[in-house]
Amino acid sequence: MDKETLPPHVLIFPLPLQGPVNSTVKLAELLCLSGLHVTFLVTDHIRTQLLKYSNIQSRFNSYPGFHLESIPDGLPELHPRSVDGLMELFESLKTNRTLLKDLLTSGKLSSESRRPVTCIIADGFMGYTCDVANEIGIPIIYIRTISACCLWVFFCLPKLIESGELPFAEHELDTQIKSIPGMEGFFRHRDLPLFCRSGNLEDPNLMLYLHEGTENPRAHGLILNTFDELEGPIVSQIRSFCPNLYTIGPLHSHLKFKLAGESSSSSLPSSNSLWKEDKSCIPWLDSQPPKSVIYVSFGSLAVMKKEQYIELWHGLVNSGCPFLWVVRSNSVLNGSIEIPPELSKGTEERGCIVEWAPQEEVLAHGAVGGFLTHSGWNATLESVVEGVPMICWPYFLDQQVNSRFVGEVWKLGLDMKDTCDRVIVEKMVRELMEDRRDEFRKSADQMATLANQCLMKGGSSYCNLDRLVNDIKAM
Ligand code: UDX
Repeated sequence: MDKETLPPHVLIFPLPLQGPVNSTVKLAELLCLSGLHVTFLVTDHIRTQLLKYSNIQSRFNSYPGFHLESIPDGLPELHPRSVDGLMELFESLKTNRTLLKDLLTSGKLSSESRRPVTCIIADGFMGYTCDVANEIGIPIIYIRTISACCLWVFFCLPKLIESGELPFAEHELDTQIKSIPGMEGFFRHRDLPLFCRSGNLEDPNLMLYLHEGTENPRAHGLILNTFDELEGPIVSQIRSFCPNLYTIGPLHSHLKFKLAGESSSSSLPSSNSLWKEDKSCIPWLDSQPPKSVIYVSFGSLAVMKKEQYIELWHGLVNSGCPFLWVVRSNSVLNGSIEIPPELSKGTEERGCIVEWAPQEEVLAHGAVGGFLTHSGWNATLESVVEGVPMICWPYFLDQQVNSRFVGEVWKLGLDMKDTCDRVIVEKMVRELMEDRRDEFRKSADQMATLANQCLMKGGSSYCNLDRLVNDIKAM
């Protein structure tokens, strides 16, 4: 077959973390559904986990254009790749620059029925991918899987430094920030990403994010997993840096919409977990009254001190509310945690604890009425789509920003921020699930409606995905 008549071939290269992998797998599937060929490139470690615990291979068997490929991340096999080693992971990734270039120029990714790569979609946090793309002459589009509001904060870090708002002292945590356009009047130092609190302009995290922000405008375009009705004003601000934006989220829901209209594609529900899902929580949820359960989960990276766990546990049990709690085996700092004897009765009566849940399924379950979350961006979007109000207890990165927007701007719940004591947890659970239930449900329902409408024919994310596919075809 003449190679020019074959579909365009996109290489997708996400950051090797659960959140970014989850959303970019959905993008890969959306592009396959649009008739494109996709090579999904991950690190060897992520590939092993995906093949072990997700159903990626069986789902993508129905797309002849899909191919899974991997390269090393440069870390030793036994490296925990946990939150403590994130900087090490990011640094190490840069060393696979040559491997990436070799892979793209080796001819390994093309065949009789597959063109060489015609477009790269890489996480905009890995700026070196743009250098590689430029060197070999393949157009590159970046994707950022964090919120637009946090990305805008990253872009404004130089302004914050210039205005003297960064660094700041502990006593200034509640002072309003003035130099981030679009966030005046409600955004405090406390709401900046956690690494901004170091009080030190030489902080390695701050330096890394300052640098990576400047990289994003270099690409042909920028894909964001958000939708205009949620983050429109902030998206407009970002456009001043990156004019060609594709807001095509919420990606997980976008995929469901597209699949609903495709009778021939795989009917397997999408699971991109890097850990084994414990589905025993679903029958437990089935036995609970509608909207009665608070779901508690802090994503794939957050680690807590034992004392924080104990405070949370007391608060949950004392609230009297049934709870489903995800406690990962690696989420307690320095070891494991035993159930406090005084909480065993309440936990047995009202609690269900699992190591890893099928989160999208849980949030869509009729028994779930609230979500106590770390405000990771995927978690936030998954909750928004299902109209589940949130209590936010942010851990790091974009989560401090997201939680402020959930509480103050979108009015979808309560921002617990830096406090975690049993009295506050109990009070907030009661407020969300009982006292202010109707108010939060109303705004969550309204936002869920908008999240669905933007995916329908003519909706903002629907049109932006169309534009993205057409732009890739024209490359
Ligand atoms: C990280 C950052 O923490 C987050 O702030 C950033 O926005 C993306 O990268 P993570 O902390 O893992 O991600 O949180 P999140 O973005 O919420 O992604 C976690 C994913 O794992 C979600 O898609 C969620 O559905 C899934 N998950 C989580 C499960 O499937 N089961 C669980 O038990 C917990």
